[in-house]
Amino acid sequence: MPKINNFINKIIQGDALSTLSSLPENSVDVVLTDPPYFLDKMDDKWSYDVVNNKKNQQTIKSLPAGMRMDREQGKRFYEWYIKIAKEAFRVIKPGGFFFSFSSPRLYHRMASAVDDAAEFLIRDCFIWLYTQNQAKAMSLNHVIDKMDASDIAKKKLKEKLKGWKTPQIKSCFEPIVMAQKPSEGTFVDNIIKHNVGLFNTNLRIGDNMFPSNVFTVNEINEIIDKAFLISKPTKKEKGNYNTHQTVKPLAICEYIIHLSTFSPEAIVLDPFVGSGTTAVAAKKLGKNYIGIDSSPEYVKIAEQRLKELDGRRNLNEAEVEKSRGQLNIFNLAKLDYVRT
Ligand SMILES: C[S@@+](CC[C@H](N)C(=O)[O-])C[C@H]1O[C@@H](n2cnc3c(N)ncnc32)[C@H](O)[C@@H]1O
Repeated sequence: MPKINNFINKIIQGDALSTLSSLPENSVDVVLTDPPYFLDKMDDKWSYDVVNNKKNQQTIKSLPAGMRMDREQGKRFYEWYIKIAKEAFRVIKPGGFFFSFSSPRLYHRMASAVDDAAEFLIRDCFIWLYTQNQAKAMSLNHVIDKMDASDIAKKKLKEKLKGWKTPQIKSCFEPIVMAQKPSEGTFVDNIIKHNVGLFNTNLRIGDNMFPSNVFTVNEINEIIDKAFLISKPTKKEKGNYNTHQTVKPLAICEYIIHLSTFSPEAIVLDPFVGSGTTAVAAKKLGKNYIGIDSSPEYVKIAEQRLKELDGRRNLNEAEVEKSRGQLNIFNLAKLDYVRT
C-alpha cells in the first residue's frame, strides 16, 4: 500500500472509490465532501453533461434536471454511498471526522449509509441556511387544460386550485451529516495519540458566538447574522474560469476544517473535490489536503485555484500575521485567512 505522503497536497484524477481504496488506513484527520446525488435516474457514472442534457429528462419532460421524483434514486445512492463511507472509515484516523453535504430530500439515505457502513458515530447534522433559491412548486393549470371537461368546468377548477401547487416549497437549507470514527481510549488519549477528535470551540461564529451547527454565508437579518453568519463569499474566490456548477462557499469549508482539525499537519480529504473548494480551504488554513475527482476538467480548475492561492498568500502575509491569535471569523470576514 503506498504511503500517505504520496497523495498529500495533490488533486488526483480518478474514481473516488478506487482511489480511496489505494489510501492507507488511519491516515487522514477529516473527510469533508460534497458528493453527487444521482438525481434524475443517474447511475454512479454521474456527469453534469448528462444531467444537463435535455434528452435525458425522460420521467417528466417538463421538469428540469434535479426536480424529478424517482423512488429508486435514494436507494441507488444509499447502496453506492455505503461503499464510499466504508472506505472513508478505513482511511480516517481514530477519532477523525466525516462531513458530507447532502440535500433535504436525500439526507436520510446519506446519513443511513454513513451509519450502516462501519462503526461511525453520527454526531450531528449541520445546516447551511440561506434565503435565496428557486421555488420548485408547479401550478397544475397545464394538466387541467388537457382534461376532458368543458371550458367552464376547467376554469372553475383552476380558480378552486389557485395558489395550490406541487408539494415542493422553496428549499432553504442544506444538511451536512457529521460522523466520527470511534476514539481509541478517551477523547484525551485519542487526541494525544492521533491529534484529532475534539472540536475547536475557541472558534467564533456570528458576533462572537460559540460555534453552532447552523450557519449562513449571507446576511439575513440582525438576529440570524449575530448567531450564525460566518463570512460572505467573495466574487474572486471561485475564479472566473471556474465552470463547475455547484461550487461551495469557501467560508463553509474553512469553518468546518477550522472546527475539526487540531494538528497543523492535519490532512483533509475530499473524494469529490470538484473545483477544489475543500482543498483551497485546507490550504488557506495551513493544513494538508488530498482531492479526488473523476473529471479532468475540474481537476485542472482545482489545481489552478490552488496555484493562485500561492500568489495571494504572499500578498496577504501581513494580514495573516495580524489575524493570528484572533478567532472571530465574523470580524475577520475581509481577511483571506482565519487561524487560531
Ligand atoms: C457536487 S460536486 C463537488 C463540488 C465541490 N464541492 C466544489 O465546491 O467545487 C461533485 C463532484 O463529484 C465528481 N464525481 C462524480 N462522480 C465521481 C466519482 N465516481 N469519483 C470521483 N468524483 C466523482 C464530479 O465530477 C463533481 O465535480
